Amino acid sequence: MQQITLIRPDDWHVHFRDGEALKETVPHHAQRFGRAIVMPNLKPPITSVSLAKNYRQQIVAATPKDFDFNPLMTLYLTQMTSPEDIEQAKESGIIYGVKFYPAGATTNSDAGVTDIFRLIPTLQTMAEVGLPLLIHAEVTDPAVDVFDREKIFLESVIKPLLQKVPDLTVVLEHVTTKEMADFVIDAGDQVAATVTPQHLLYTRNDIFKGGIHPHLYCLPILKREQHRERLREIVKSGHKRFFLGTDSAPHSQSAKESSCGCAGIFSAPCAIEIYAEIFELLGALDKLEGFSSCYGADFYGLPRNKTQITLIKKPWAVPESYPLDSKNRIIPLKASETLHWQLT
Ligand code: NCD
Ligand code: ZN
Repeated sequence: MQQITLIRPDDWHVHFRDGEALKETVPHHAQRFGRAIVMPNLKPPITSVSLAKNYRQQIVAATPKDFDFNPLMTLYLTQMTSPEDIEQAKESGIIYGVKFYPAGATTNSDAGVTDIFRLIPTLQTMAEVGLPLLIHAEVTDPAVDVFDREKIFLESVIKPLLQKVPDLTVVLEHVTTKEMADFVIDAGDQVAATVTPQHLLYTRNDIFKGGIHPHLYCLPILKREQHRERLREIVKSGHKRFFLGTDSAPHSQSAKESSCGCAGIFSAPCAIEIYAEIFELLGALDKLEGFSSCYGADFYGLPRNKTQITLIKKPWAVPESYPLDSKNRIIPLKASETLHWQLT
């Protein structure tokens, strides 16, 4: 196949950052995607409708004129988020999910949740008004091995939580383990997962191949081959509750290449191109459109996009870096490597 036309895809998990960076991060997405679920882990985090409105305006201002790109905003769940906050978020019409970061789990999660079981009334209101909980599913106990944090979170948080609030709609973000993926399959129709390019492409060995690769460090961290294999099988099967979420998470080159480097992989400039490459490798190009353009919209109860994108098979080299702002550069996923699918 030399050309693929897809219903315009959506990205159900992205970090755009704020300030000057928006001019560099948003256009990559506007070119490729119709909509994106925008993560709220700014400093300070997006904890109210007014902050979300303001942030959305900044994203719209950074969107190139020719593109009809719709940023779908999220609210950052804190221990203080009330049922009234949830009602206001729903009424705003601009908020599509509430993001649950366990405090300390990842970048800018310090203001996150310390005890989700004390937020049951808030979660019940989410279930009633129909706002999904978007979960960073990792325990933060430093005694737990970093590679086991998702698996243990499933048992200690997800399962008991869904027993307490069974009608809650949940997206397990950036799923990385076969345990969590199999749980999603067995759970009801109100549980879904996003899948990143990096967790389909790589295993934890790639972080350490011939030396340490800071640009492959993200959270949840890359896992063993058996987990990548399971994620690949599932997307290859066209499971309708597994859909595209890049988790593109820009950090400057200096913040990544540091004695204490940040977690996050920047895939925005070539995200759909990389997924196309993965689905081709899996012999499942016919499943790409469902994964990238249909299942997420269906799950969120939104119409599929009306326009299309076309990818052609024509090799191109991913640039070694992009600007992030006036001072910093950023290294993308697949930097200086050749990709075979190109956006027309
Ligand atoms: C994300 C970031 O940098 O904001 N980092 C990451 O490694 N994925 C936060 C997150 O989604 O965990
Ligand atoms: Zn993320």
